[in-house]
Amino acid sequence: MKKILLINGPNLQLLGVREPEIYGHTTLKEIVAGLRCAAENAGAVLEDFQSNHEGAIVDRIAAALTDGTDGIMINPAAYTHTSVAIRDALAAVKLPAVEVHLSNITSREDFRSRSLTAPVCRGVIAGFGVQGYHLALTALLVLTAADEN
Ligand code: DQA
Repeated sequence: MKKILLINGPNLQLLGVREPEIYGHTTLKEIVAGLRCAAENAGAVLEDFQSNHEGAIVDRIAAALTDGTDGIMINPAAYTHTSVAIRDALAAVKLPAVEVHLSNITSREDFRSRSLTAPVCRGVIAGFGVQGYHLALTALLVLTAADEN
C-alpha cells in the first residue's frame, strides 16, 4: 500500500477563516478528511502533518526517508518563498514530491512568484483551491506507480 505524506506549512491550520476570498472556506481538517478518503479509495494511505515551524517541517521530511513514505505532497505556504532548508530537505530525501498551492502564486504579489522549493519537486499545482490537493494526490500516485517500474 502506497504511503503518501501530506505536509502543510505555516498558517494553513487557519484555513476556513484565513482570507477566505483567497483560500476558500474549507478547513484543513476537511481537506485532510477528503484526501484521506480519496487515498483509501485508490488503495493508498495518507499521513498528514502541519506545522508553523520550519525546523519541524525539515525534521518531518527527513523522517520520511525511513518511515515507509512513498511520496510527499507539500504546501510549504510562506516557506515556499524563503526556505532553503525545506528545499534542501526535499532534495536530500529524493522522494517524489508535488508542491501544492491553493492560490495561483504567480498571479499575486511579486514575492510569491518565486518558489525555492518547486525546483526540487516533480511538479507544482497552483490555483485550483482544494481541488489542487486532489490533483496532486493523483499525480503522486501516478509518479509512485511509475517509479516502481
Ligand atoms: C499558499 C501561497 C503562499 O504564498 C502563502 O504564503 C500561503 C498559502 C497557497 O496555498 O496558496 O500561506 O501556499
